[in-house]
Amino acid sequence: MSGNIYYPDSSYKETAKIHNYSDKYQEFTKDPDAFWRRIASDLLWFEPWDQVRVWDHPFARWFTNAKLNITYNCLERHLNNDRRNKVAICWVGENNRERILTYYQLHKDVMRFANGLKSLGVTKGDRVCIYMPAIPEMVVAMLACARIGAVHTVVFAGYGAKALNERITGSQSKVVITADSTVRRGGSIPLKPIVEEAIINAPMVEKVVVLRTQEPKVGLLDDLEIDFEDLMSSVPRQCPPEPVGSEDPLFILYTSGTTGAPKGIVHAAGGYMVGAYYTTKYVLTLQENDLYWCTADPGWITGHTYGTYGPLLVGGTIFMTEYTPDYPDPGVWWRLIEEYGVSIFYTAPTAIRMFMKVGSEIPDKSDLSSLRILGSVGEPLNPEAFEWFYHNIGKDHCPILDTWWQTETGMHMITTMVGEPMKPGFAGKPIPGIVADVVNDEGDPVPSGTTGFLAIKEPWPSMMQMVHQNEERYRGYWNFGKYHYYSTNDLAVKDDDGYIMLLGRSDDIIIVAGHNVGTAEIESALVSHQSVAEAAAIGKPDDLKGNLIKAFVILRNGVIPTPKLIHDLKYHVRMMLGPISVPAELEFVETLPKTRSGKIMRRVLKAREMGMDPGDVSTLEE
Ligand code: WT7
Repeated sequence: MSGNIYYPDSSYKETAKIHNYSDKYQEFTKDPDAFWRRIASDLLWFEPWDQVRVWDHPFARWFTNAKLNITYNCLERHLNNDRRNKVAICWVGENNRERILTYYQLHKDVMRFANGLKSLGVTKGDRVCIYMPAIPEMVVAMLACARIGAVHTVVFAGYGAKALNERITGSQSKVVITADSTVRRGGSIPLKPIVEEAIINAPMVEKVVVLRTQEPKVGLLDDLEIDFEDLMSSVPRQCPPEPVGSEDPLFILYTSGTTGAPKGIVHAAGGYMVGAYYTTKYVLTLQENDLYWCTADPGWITGHTYGTYGPLLVGGTIFMTEYTPDYPDPGVWWRLIEEYGVSIFYTAPTAIRMFMKVGSEIPDKSDLSSLRILGSVGEPLNPEAFEWFYHNIGKDHCPILDTWWQTETGMHMITTMVGEPMKPGFAGKPIPGIVADVVNDEGDPVPSGTTGFLAIKEPWPSMMQMVHQNEERYRGYWNFGKYHYYSTNDLAVKDDDGYIMLLGRSDDIIIVAGHNVGTAEIESALVSHQSVAEAAAIGKPDDLKGNLIKAFVILRNGVIPTPKLIHDLKYHVRMMLGPISVPAELEFVETLPKTRSGKIMRRVLKAREMGMDPGDVSTLEE
């Protein structure tokens, strides 16, 4: 497990002093409640908490009985603090269309849109589904929900109608906020028709708010659809923040599960706010003069915590763009960094590997000297990609934060904090505030160098509060072997210095280009096609995307396998789930390996596919 170690240069030792890793970790260990209390005290609360933390396995209550509003901390806190005219969001669209929103303007828009939602009858605790492209209005919509205590459920605009329907009905959203279309790679993809299809079997939806960006404007359905701008212009300007309880839900975000429907991960207002604030300030080290770019779409947890709430909580400037990494050419992101002076760049291994493949001559054409910190999230950053990123983008001086965390954790959990020595391939150590270890299936620590499961031993503020309407699934996370640990479902290995390397999922989730795709969802989409009897999906390692989806399909009797059918099945999955879930490879088979209890053994399929030993097959059916 030996490899290169990179030591921070002296400039980062200074930054690191504000949060020396071992001092901070010790401070936490000595008195965890005092540690979190100090962080929470930076923020504004309408009413104080009784207790920092009450741990009653498997439920943790954070900042009990406190009252707050996250938007008051994201907006007013800065307006009163010299940041009134500071840029909150700098957005660049294709063809270099540019939009700037100061904190003052963002505050104004959020209040107006919040009043608009109120005028539709949305009140505290109601769920609102947001299905929009990554544009400033998306941030406005999220914050407007939070302003009035409504619970947002953001659905990534790449999802298809069935996936959207499941998330709308699962969350019982009464309003859906969308746009006529999204711009992608020079073209325009309609979104409104997808919403129309998705709400056919969603009787709880009362109104659809549509942002119309195209000319001529698309038509709106009477009584159901309302124009985004009209909604904002016909309401009062002022909207005071609704005080919400610390344990009231802030949002629900769906993530793919191992079996059955996707899980609605619920995050509570108080703890989430503290976790997002803490890690943006001390892990990302976002400072007053930074221009901060998180490349994740707001539809993912990264876009929630580090694209929206975290940076606004610390009063930072968010850079957002519509440009994908390779359109119009793979130099566009580097030109944006040079043009605008991006200083923190937080992206995903799949993008880094794509850039690596097209070659370092491309970033070399741009001046990247504004960069100060680099970050990665979503899947393991393999050593080759780390080295490439470090040398070619960070020019041998920017620290790389390989941040391990999950939708469920809400915030960073494991990384190498700025100023600490970096080991390519290893995410790093648990950050101050987090107690984690690599354990065997009983929950006992394994020796360094031995593969085990990553478990979190103690609750933390931004941990998920619940799986929406599924307490059983929530409880399932907090039992590990003999202990009350949080089970991450990730395999990991630790070295002698306590650095943790992540080895991938131990369950049936495939991470494709950094997106979490459930095998169950793909399989049930395939099986819903009239030609398919049974299906199994696996992740097949891929240099660029980390994994690609391969599906094995048993056809119904009498159906003839043809290349056209492969095309049809892929199209069917695309229409149901969206492009990220489409199998890159599809193979027709006669049988599938199954356990005696009838569970498909994907591990056997995967081993076969890769020409490897399938391991223990004692449970395999004859
Ligand atoms: C799963 C969580 C957290 C936002 C993005 C994904 C994998 C995430 C890393 C990393 C290795 C990583 C894990 C985790 N993962 N970050 N730095 N190194 N693996 O959120 O969709 O909830 O997926 O992504 O397998 O369990 P998510």
